[in-house]
Amino acid sequence: MSSVSAIIVAAGSGTRMGAGKNKQFISIRGVPVIARTLRVFENMPEVEKILVVTRAEDIEEMRRVIQCHGIKKVFDVIEGGDTRQKSVMNGLERLSGEDDDIVLIHDGARPFIRAEFVRELISQIESENCEAAAIGVPVKDTIKQIDDHGFISSTPDRDSLISVQTPQGFRYELIMKAHTRAKNKGADFTDDCAVAESFTTERVMIIKGDYRNIKITTPEDLALAEIILENERSGGIN
Ligand code: CTP
Ligand code: MG
Repeated sequence: MSSVSAIIVAAGSGTRMGAGKNKQFISIRGVPVIARTLRVFENMPEVEKILVVTRAEDIEEMRRVIQCHGIKKVFDVIEGGDTRQKSVMNGLERLSGEDDDIVLIHDGARPFIRAEFVRELISQIESENCEAAAIGVPVKDTIKQIDDHGFISSTPDRDSLISVQTPQGFRYELIMKAHTRAKNKGADFTDDCAVAESFTTERVMIIKGDYRNIKITTPEDLALAEIILENERSGGIN
């Protein structure tokens, strides 16, 4: 069995949320977003250790939240970079794993990830079918590609489109190599699959997740988060 680590990236500024602080610390029903996210990985026996990446000014508060919510698997809280990709790279360097270790990279801002999907992701990578996989859901809207003037240039077939989420999981060697190449080339991507797709020949498998795994991004998402929690409470989805 490979050792499984999780890197939780939480080093953004939450500009679109506009809360005047890192959105990871916003409480939803009394529990900060980041604590909800960490709890999922904390409670999974498959996950050995967790690394949290955050802004330098948030490290102290992050440690406090981790302690206050009884999260034991976080072995370090480190400083991120000015892009998500740099934050992930800092995390990968700190992890310094064995080549065949599995690393799960997850947005701190996705507190509603369900353990069953993380488990499926891990088993896919362990099954040797693939070395890279990510959670995603079919898009609901028809997506248009537009040109520089705002006119539609093409309409991709909706059945072939997936909205990718996190976690995204990889063998350590593969993702470290891909990120190192991306860094050297000065490429910047918003997700780690794109780094792997662009800088390795490995195919990345998509595992169907669910629509509850939203990324808390704008104020509307906080209202949506309330609804998700309410549904879980009343629907007994656990
Ligand atoms: N992230 C990070 N380091 C960065 C930028 C983002 O670790 N330099 C993390 C965020 O903390 C978040 C995840 O990547 O958990 C997804 O990013 P996003 O939703 O864009 O969060 P923010 O960058 O904080 O928000 P915004 O873009 O609105 O400022
Ligand atoms: Mg951002």
